[in-house]
Amino acid sequence: MTGTAQQKRLFIKTYGCQMNVYDSERMADVLAPLGYGVTDQPDDADLVVLNTCHIRERATEKVYSELGKIKELREARQEAGGGRMTIAVAGCVAQAEGEEIMRRQPAVDLVVGPQAYHQLPELIARAHRARGERLAADFAAEDKFDALPATRNPGGVTAFLTVQEGCDKFCTFCVVPYTRGAEWSRPVDKIVDEAKALADKGVREVTLLGQNVNAYDGDGGPDGKGLAGLVRKLAKIPGLDRIRYTTSHPRDMDEALIAAHAELPELMPYLHLPVQSGSDKILKAMNRGHTAEAYLKLIEKIRAARPDIAMSCDFIVGFPGERDSDFEATLNLVREVGYASSFSFKYSRRPGTPAAAMPGQIAEEVKDERLARLNALIDEQQRAFNAAQVGKVLPVLFEKKGRHPGQLNGRSPYLQAVHAEGPDHLIGQIVPVRIEAAAKMSLGGVLETAPA
Ligand code: 5AD
Ligand code: SF4
Repeated sequence: MTGTAQQKRLFIKTYGCQMNVYDSERMADVLAPLGYGVTDQPDDADLVVLNTCHIRERATEKVYSELGKIKELREARQEAGGGRMTIAVAGCVAQAEGEEIMRRQPAVDLVVGPQAYHQLPELIARAHRARGERLAADFAAEDKFDALPATRNPGGVTAFLTVQEGCDKFCTFCVVPYTRGAEWSRPVDKIVDEAKALADKGVREVTLLGQNVNAYDGDGGPDGKGLAGLVRKLAKIPGLDRIRYTTSHPRDMDEALIAAHAELPELMPYLHLPVQSGSDKILKAMNRGHTAEAYLKLIEKIRAARPDIAMSCDFIVGFPGERDSDFEATLNLVREVGYASSFSFKYSRRPGTPAAAMPGQIAEEVKDERLARLNALIDEQQRAFNAAQVGKVLPVLFEKKGRHPGQLNGRSPYLQAVHAEGPDHLIGQIVPVRIEAAAKMSLGGVLETAPA
């Protein structure tokens, strides 16, 4: 120990989407100058941050049960004569129901919404003076990004990079437009700076994040506007060999972006493009702004541009008014597209959203049954997609050591986890791997060329 007062421990638990993962990293960056180092043990943390998700009821309830556990840890620590543990709730639950959190769990010291993380140091100082300070988080995402430190410590060969926040689509089931605010895009030059800094630290792959990432509207000058322009610019950064983006909306999948998939080898052939339902009646009630046919046509176009592209999707079953025939239409759409992977959810009634007040709410047992059927189909497609890689040679970006000695873990262009035996120095390199085995969640292979 150096004896400085700088040895403080920060435990962050992240729920929900990848944007929360990015935000958690950035919170750690903001707190580092205050002497907080990240720990993976909550019991002796000086500061615990729960970075929360509000998308479905279950995600929200998890936060309250975790807070109960953290409170016990704090009490145990105090009894053992340890220092004070500060408890903070961040993220979308903080944004949506900050006062409710303070009321339901008095142990919470501070609540901070997703656009106010840069104010964390000040909030912590205030919370130490008097409990009960909470920031009414605003939607000025701009301030947040400007105030965050330019340097990041990615600690790996892949990194998330937020380029866009918020959503103006107002799907009738979704809380995001209320928790994350209106669509807002970061300026191109700021993103390019951050990406260059990441590449300098050894990052080979970035995933551009946004609630509606393909609604990105920054201007890339000669490279073009929108997400396509940004991707073209990023593709020129030396060392940055792989670019992904998520999550996209079908309505914002423009020609320029589709063309970028055809032309840029850096843009990985994997696209998460949620449709939510295959029934036009339900799509309309969801306010998705497109039909099932328009979505299928769009996929046809994307596949014409990049024939090997792997598609991924989100589905909601049991939306109000969903009949058996609507659900069958969803299954048919899944069969028609053939997804590499998908996520399916039971509709969760979120207070304040239009769908929560719609007639025809669906019984839980019906949702369970539909979810099981959809999941069976999704699993079958995922296994088939993985099995189809056996015998192929795929470029794999190795990210870390595997579970077994001598093994490395990486990703294929199609985002599949791949493990193969190989020397550690291949971490951070893109290496051809002959795929020999496939399971539901991963592939196994051997290095195609003997390592140098
Ligand atoms: N109920 C169930 N699933 C939801 N999603 C968003 N809101 C809800 C809700 N109220 C799902 C959508 C979205 C994904 C991130 O979460 O499928 O694409
Ligand atoms: Fe939610 Fe719809 Fe916006 Fe996606 S597009 S974040 S589902 S409102």
